[in-house]
Amino acid sequence: MINADIKIEKTTQSRVDNYDVNNVPFGKCFSDHMFIAEYANGKWEKSYITPYRDFPMSYAMSALHYGQAIFEGMKAYKSDSGEVSVFRPLDNFNRLNISAIRMAMPEVPEEIFMGGLMELLKLDSAWVPSSETGSLYIRPFLIATDEAIGVKPSETYKFIIITCPAGKYYSEPIKVLIETTYIRAVEGGVGFVKAAGNYGRSMYPTRLAQQKGYQQVIWTDGKTHSYLEESGTMNLIFVIGDTVVTPALSDTILAGITRSSVLALAREWGMKVEERKVSITEIVEAHKNGTLKEVFGTGTAATIAQIIGIGYEDDYYSLPPVEERTFSTKIDETLRGIRKGKVADNMGWMHKVQ
Ligand code: COI
Repeated sequence: MINADIKIEKTTQSRVDNYDVNNVPFGKCFSDHMFIAEYANGKWEKSYITPYRDFPMSYAMSALHYGQAIFEGMKAYKSDSGEVSVFRPLDNFNRLNISAIRMAMPEVPEEIFMGGLMELLKLDSAWVPSSETGSLYIRPFLIATDEAIGVKPSETYKFIIITCPAGKYYSEPIKVLIETTYIRAVEGGVGFVKAAGNYGRSMYPTRLAQQKGYQQVIWTDGKTHSYLEESGTMNLIFVIGDTVVTPALSDTILAGITRSSVLALAREWGMKVEERKVSITEIVEAHKNGTLKEVFGTGTAATIAQIIGIGYEDDYYSLPPVEERTFSTKIDETLRGIRKGKVADNMGWMHKVQ
């Protein structure tokens, strides 16, 4: 890997001892350092690491007004011997640039993304939890920084990486409500990219679902509201009979890296995997005839989030208990094993920090 020319300013006083990194709430406490790369004059001009801090910005900063803001989520893990590795970072790097192109933002070169990430993790390795379920959540993001009112692509950008120790995103299995009024994404839109606005628009419908006792919604297609797409911030996976079924990727669905890992393991284990349209009718039918064995969401933050009940219109479909879910339990254990260096990484997913 090529190394970016990164200026490093180390903190004079680490804050790591102020926390029990194996036991902190998700996304609330940030590690000692952050990586920043600045884009101006048509090129990436400088890269540096500084102590984690706020940054001064203009109230006219274009990301705030016109939404040129994209991000990624990745995780680093610590093995029992103390080695730190990141799960599939090159996939996140590629996806960030897919988002950048769609949002008319400059692509981030690999040496900046990977070089910055590796240097940052070397400095902040003490922040990576060693517990069975802990990890260091990594948030790379790219924002438009022009001070200008007017809708056009910014001429300046910052690419930033911050990290935070993280435990479970959902502490319990979740109940989800099929959403048939509001939509997350439409064909030709930006549902397949990790644009900040996709998350902003999800909050009101999610709040309404929460008021009805659900934790998340299941998004349906924007035209007919009859096909299932994603759940909250996660991809959706079903086990129907002996087949693993998931909505096919399209321009309304994010190409989740955990999703692709689950499907790769299922195929390696000889299971039948179908990536196709999944209708509400099919799922209700499978529930009725007892073939709907497992439903779960996948995402970097959540990893595998078990779904124990689905609401649809006036009905509630209670799903099989988590203890009976052999596929997702095995997936969860295998992924954890690979990440912690206890199960052979046959797919070459782990990227060592050295
Ligand atoms: C992730 O799974 O990393 C996400 O992006 C979900 C959420 C924390 C925004």
